[in-house]
Amino acid sequence: MRREFLIAPSVLGADPLALAEAVESLGGREDWLHLDIMDGHFVRNLSFGPAVARAMRRRWPDAFIDVHLMVDRLDVVLPLFLDSASLITVHAETEPQLLHATLASIRAAGLKAGVAIGPVTPVEAVRAVLGCVDLVLVMSVTPGFGGQGLIEDTLERTRELAGLRAAGGYGYLIQMDGGINKDNADRIALAGCDVAVAGSAVFSSPAPAEYLDEMKLKVKEALAHAGIGPARQK
Ligand code: DX5
Ligand code: ZN
Repeated sequence: MRREFLIAPSVLGADPLALAEAVESLGGREDWLHLDIMDGHFVRNLSFGPAVARAMRRRWPDAFIDVHLMVDRLDVVLPLFLDSASLITVHAETEPQLLHATLASIRAAGLKAGVAIGPVTPVEAVRAVLGCVDLVLVMSVTPGFGGQGLIEDTLERTRELAGLRAAGGYGYLIQMDGGINKDNADRIALAGCDVAVAGSAVFSSPAPAEYLDEMKLKVKEALAHAGIGPARQK
């Protein structure tokens, strides 16, 4: 089995007064750009709005813009990102009874659709939609803030999702978000994570491009050692 491991730097970890320079400092080594949208209600923080997503799209027309919505009012907020995102992930905790319809509306707009679970939400909460998502995001910190430590227990949910994917023949990618750095990326990849979101570790590094290279190399070696690799690198 060959596995590709992607890294999605989270611009929440960058200097908000120098976002463009921060993205350029990645030297094109990033696979996706992760953009956290917070409404001050679903989580206790505010972050970016659609103007930032649209400016990113204008500046980097070919970028894969991975929008993570941590908001309550999906009816208001989601439509604002349909013209700029490549993928939109919504939380299963937000309006669970509307989840199928919400995910279908993202796909109907021609985008990839993801579903996220917070650190205390069981995998069971997304079981019913595993056949209609492109990605499942497992939060590995308390949503709302960068710079926290990875909650180790969350690895188990990644393993569970990888098992369900194999058993059910599903095609979703598994993403982990929060507390990921070059020293634990190998462990999350071995647990089944395909896309690592990393904010503070990447952007607080003096050399973000080299940091991504180092992270990918460690994962590649770990997967190869476990007989899962070599992971295909970008
Ligand atoms: C937290 C966000 C993350 C955050 C990760 O709610 O969803 O994307 O930027 O930041 P680090 O990598 O610093 O934990
Ligand atoms: Zn995020």
